[in-house]
Amino acid sequence: MSILDVKIMQDYIRACNDGWEQGWHERNGGNLTYRMRAEEVEACRPYFNAPREWVKMDVCAPHLGGEYFLTTGSGKFFRNVVLDPAHSIGIVEINDEGNAWRVVWGLENGARPTSEFPSHFLNHAVRVKATDGACRVIYHAHPANIIAMTYTLPLTAKAFSRALWQSATECPVVFPGGVGVVPWMVPGGADIALATSKQMEEFEAVVWAHHGLFCSGPDLDITFGLMHTIEKAAEIYNLVMSTGGGKVLQTITDENLLAIAKDFGVQLREDFLD
Ligand code: 13P
Ligand code: ZN
Repeated sequence: MSILDVKIMQDYIRACNDGWEQGWHERNGGNLTYRMRAEEVEACRPYFNAPREWVKMDVCAPHLGGEYFLTTGSGKFFRNVVLDPAHSIGIVEINDEGNAWRVVWGLENGARPTSEFPSHFLNHAVRVKATDGACRVIYHAHPANIIAMTYTLPLTAKAFSRALWQSATECPVVFPGGVGVVPWMVPGGADIALATSKQMEEFEAVVWAHHGLFCSGPDLDITFGLMHTIEKAAEIYNLVMSTGGGKVLQTITDENLLAIAKDFGVQLREDFLD
């Protein structure tokens, strides 16, 4: 047995590789964190190394004190996760105050959690509250089509949510609450973490202008599926704009969107309709 036989480790590594295969993770682009269940921590604990030193964060979330997170490493390539997990990903423990982490497994040779760990951590903090503890995953990727949309659409939640909903019929069912948008900011620090987590109070997915997308969810499948659905809708949006030269003859109307929401029993954000 090794830690790599534990199911959550296998599922997490598979999710990283799936993202690589989608083309969302050039070089070290993107990062994935998973808040582990108590039983998953116990299944992994026999394989933990001696903990490293605590590293203080510029952000704090006391209600995440004592949690354990699986995280991709800063500067590590999603492409390599399946080949070399121990150097590419790791498990970090959060201190009781909720303002520091320490590596207990992986991230070998002194690697650190993703540079976006502050954003992941604050997003977890907000989504755990917004979902009564159900949220476990924060996933950041660099899918080309959603990034391209941030050059041609106003950077508002309404403009993005509506354009995506109208690009594929399943979208209003998969993310009836819409998506948030953060304008261009320097990545990797507390400022962008705060701006993103503010959006995550309302939205389960947040676009980073000219950079990528953050998705949240209760498990790896649902969160990966949300990223996939949004990016596919963005691809359709861009295809329509480029093939049609910006001219749209017909689309999914606001009445259509409301009809889908009614039949599928989801609460669409109606203030995003015209
Ligand atoms: P990391 O390699 O530190 O995870 O950074 C990648 C990235 O996408 C930054 O936004
Ligand atoms: Zn990024």
